[in-house]
Amino acid sequence: MAASSTQQNHASFQKDYDKQSELKAFDDTKAGVKGLIDAGITKVPQIFIHPEALEKKTSINPNKTHFTFPLIDLYNINKNPIKHKEIVKQIQEALETWGFFQVINHGVPVSVLDEMLRGARRFHEQGVDIKKPYYSRDVARKVMYNCNFDLFSHKALAANWRDSLYSVMAPNPAMPEELPETCREITIEYSDHVMKLGYTLVELLSEGLGLKPNHLKEMGCAEGLGILCNYYPSCPQPELAIGTSRHADNDFFTMLLQDDIGGLQVFHENQWVDVPPTHGALIINIGDILQLISNDKYKSIEHRVLANKIGPRISVASFFSTGPSTSSRIYGPIEELLSKDNPPKYRATTMKDFFEYSNKKGLDGNSNLSHYKII
Ligand code: OGA
Ligand code: NI
Repeated sequence: MAASSTQQNHASFQKDYDKQSELKAFDDTKAGVKGLIDAGITKVPQIFIHPEALEKKTSINPNKTHFTFPLIDLYNINKNPIKHKEIVKQIQEALETWGFFQVINHGVPVSVLDEMLRGARRFHEQGVDIKKPYYSRDVARKVMYNCNFDLFSHKALAANWRDSLYSVMAPNPAMPEELPETCREITIEYSDHVMKLGYTLVELLSEGLGLKPNHLKEMGCAEGLGILCNYYPSCPQPELAIGTSRHADNDFFTMLLQDDIGGLQVFHENQWVDVPPTHGALIINIGDILQLISNDKYKSIEHRVLANKIGPRISVASFFSTGPSTSSRIYGPIEELLSKDNPPKYRATTMKDFFEYSNKKGLDGNSNLSHYKII
């Protein structure tokens, strides 16, 4: 396919400056995008001018169209068998059409959700000197703060307009004293709730595949938890930058908590659809590894976050996976789901291989799964 004129303009624009040294200078500040805003910039620096933002942003608000983003009520899920069956069906339908859904009455107190968002904000808004020791891209670390985990990974694209704090919470979690003090207590409390909900969800996801409820749990799909606290500072030129560029998550499944600002979009029926912030709700989506092991029955759908003049926007993503650990466990399409008419679509991989591949590739706009696809 021929490159669009936007891409060509962007490419020639990029030749005129030394991207690598600008990235390095920015990274050396260890102050993230927040540091740029604090320094009073009024223009988006070149390293953040993103081709995806320069394309026409077609987004629609599902409230104003025929789209209804699925909202599932988990009330009484484990007490009422009829309700349980209904919920499994609702989840199955939501995943077949959207790959995403929101849950309410999920058991995590709203006060805990609100405090988690406040804790994430406190971390990012404290002095740079306190944050600096956490600044890293070393995947062996259990707690790290950075701006773009993939800042130096891909040549063609630009950096995302967000800062993040990542904490490994299971298995072998970060020690409490390793967690930043500003959000330590709430991160531990939030993780406990999220793990519990994760175990409930993974059962529902198993049942939705027609497997016994503990199948995915026994495969370790809810064993590992990483919590990513995202901070999207206000952006002076949102038409030039992107909060999080288009990607699918590289885990089994993700639970996302967002504040009330909005900007999250899901690619649905060939267009970007806004996910309406719903106070007290959690957003659930399927990641690449669950797509791989379900042999495409569940799909990891692309999503992104727009940059916004209004900010900061805070979100907390809980990734269920073994994380960038050295796990040698092998994952391939689940035997029980395969048949003569449904042969494996992916080759099996170790988690270690999968994470090394996806981490190195970064959010370059391409799917991790194509690397594992059997042609
Ligand atoms: C992510 C992600 C969305 C958001 O961190 O993978 O998609 O709303 N975040 O921050
Ligand atoms: Ni994501």
